[in-house]
Amino acid sequence: MTRLSAESIEQQLVAIRRQLHEYPELSHEEFETTAAIRGWLTEAGIRIVDYGLKTGVIAEVGGLQDGPLIAVRADIDALPIQEETGLPFASKIPGKMHACGHDFHTASILGTAFLLKEQEQELRGTVRFLFQPAEEKAKGAGQLIASGALNGVDAVFGMHNKPDLPVGTIGIKGGPIMAAADGFVVEVAGRGSHAAVPEAGLDPIVTAAHIITALQSIVSRSVSALDSAVVSVTRLHAGTAWNVISDKAVFDGTLRTFDESVREKVRERFEQVVGGVASAFATTAQVKWLEGPPAVVNDQKWADQATVTAEALGLTVIQPVPSPAGEDFAFYLKETEGLFVFLGTAGPQEWHHPAFDVDEKALPIAASFFASLASDALRKLADDRLRGGRQHSEIL
Ligand code: NI
Repeated sequence: MTRLSAESIEQQLVAIRRQLHEYPELSHEEFETTAAIRGWLTEAGIRIVDYGLKTGVIAEVGGLQDGPLIAVRADIDALPIQEETGLPFASKIPGKMHACGHDFHTASILGTAFLLKEQEQELRGTVRFLFQPAEEKAKGAGQLIASGALNGVDAVFGMHNKPDLPVGTIGIKGGPIMAAADGFVVEVAGRGSHAAVPEAGLDPIVTAAHIITALQSIVSRSVSALDSAVVSVTRLHAGTAWNVISDKAVFDGTLRTFDESVREKVRERFEQVVGGVASAFATTAQVKWLEGPPAVVNDQKWADQATVTAEALGLTVIQPVPSPAGEDFAFYLKETEGLFVFLGTAGPQEWHHPAFDVDEKALPIAASFFASLASDALRKLADDRLRGGRQHSEIL
């Protein structure tokens, strides 16, 4: 029997990735990308399932009745960044770029779908492909969940390309792999006055400066050395003139944590510091939280399975350092079991850089890894069910 091999579809995946790369679309605007993905899937005879999404595509291979269901997710959106790679297939859209490699994810998972379509008769269940919009806004996963696209899924798998890992290396670990990414806006309200008469006012700039400095003590004094967290103030706005004390100062930034209890503790301490320091200066301050996705927390049993699958394919498996970036895949793992991995793409730059790129040799590797993982996972789940059923009848 002739069968598609990952090598035989490499050129096709390169062509797909380059086409996506030339026409990047931002979160919630992925209309052409959606049409292109539908076209490639249809051409391969893969069925598309309608969940009423404006952008994004859900497709399925297999379909054993009552069999297990595995989901494989690729994010499809790009970023508002002007590309500076100088590549012949660089973005043709000014100010927009696939600078996080979601073009790589999409092409790879299309490859997974093509490979699994070839073995459809042997699959022990169904594989559902989630081509998800709006990851960069951390909105797409929630929309897919709301649409019902995760209903019945026994386990969900996903990846991020990793520029600092070589091609052929995969980062797999149980537990947290990406951070909870919360945002905050703090507004300090004082009382304006002439700059020469500060005692007539309540200076929000001095207050904000003390708050920002005191916030730096949260990680050093309130978080265990064995846990980790980031508190970054990234913007500060106040004042209108050199000789006027303003009545308001506003600053914002982000918190990153890997553990739900640390996340709660840091947020609690943050509010105490803001409120306490503001009142020490006789001002008031409000904290507004911009809640981001929780940490991506992998299931150990799927990390173990993925390690077996990757090693069988000859990949080098490493225990990756978790990334303090956020990822809305976290929302799927709140709904069901699963795993998020880092796939080596030997890029010249980190994510979101204008010269970001991937080594396309990683495309067939990613495609075949997820094809093998999905079919191994279906086999494992189907066997577990059989075993469970038998034990059950023995008890009866
Ligand atoms: Ni990304």
